[in-house]
Amino acid sequence: MSFEIPANVHLIDNPLVTDRLTVLRMKKTNTRKFREIVKEISGFLAYEIGRTLPMKDVEIQTPMRKTVQKRIDTSKKMAIVPILRAGVGMIPGFTKVFPDVQILNIGVKRDETTHAPISYYENFPGDIRAQKCIIIDPMLATGGSIEYTVEKLKAKGCKDIVIAAIITAPEGIARISGAYPDIPIFCCAIDDHLDKDKYIIPGLGDAGDRIFGTE
Ligand code: PRP
Ligand code: URA
Repeated sequence: MSFEIPANVHLIDNPLVTDRLTVLRMKKTNTRKFREIVKEISGFLAYEIGRTLPMKDVEIQTPMRKTVQKRIDTSKKMAIVPILRAGVGMIPGFTKVFPDVQILNIGVKRDETTHAPISYYENFPGDIRAQKCIIIDPMLATGGSIEYTVEKLKAKGCKDIVIAAIITAPEGIARISGAYPDIPIFCCAIDDHLDKDKYIIPGLGDAGDRIFGTE
């Protein structure tokens, strides 16, 4: 499928990521290895998102003299929003890079027949209006689960939303980018297409089952 990548999509092009992603896709990769790679790739995604963080000047004293240098401006609170279940596998990679983030959980499951998102849990306490929220989910297929989550965050007044996915499909990217051209999507692959059951092809199968060992 020929597909023009929308401007809000940041496709990570790094051999260290691509090599791990190939192993992740393999049917023979076991649960332990799968979890380990999801964690590593999530760290790379978090690192890439880190490029967009605001910096501020700070005056410091080195052993030689005073100097003005840069630090990350942490005045804006940050949260990651894992979409249960599979998003849980990405938490360790993200918290390694962003140790102080809040974690806001949402449970969304695709209906097996309609493939529409079914929500079964949400815990977004407090005021998130001034917060940056990074939605994490390994798979962006039809985009329904992520669209549902974006709408929930927007309904709570969040204005700074970022999406991090490992593998995406053109159909889901087109849907999310069309609806939210200002929301950045960080991902490691845009695969060929969705099959009739809305699985990503070639993909990696069911990410939740592979992370939780429930295949
Ligand atoms: C998977 C995946 C995403 C969703 C993507 O979850 O983790 O949340 O499908 O598909 P979509 O873009 O078409 O919405 P699933 O519904 O299988 O639930 P699970 O994580 O509990 O296994
Ligand atoms: N969810 C998955 O886990 N895998 C897919 O290919 C599509 C949705």
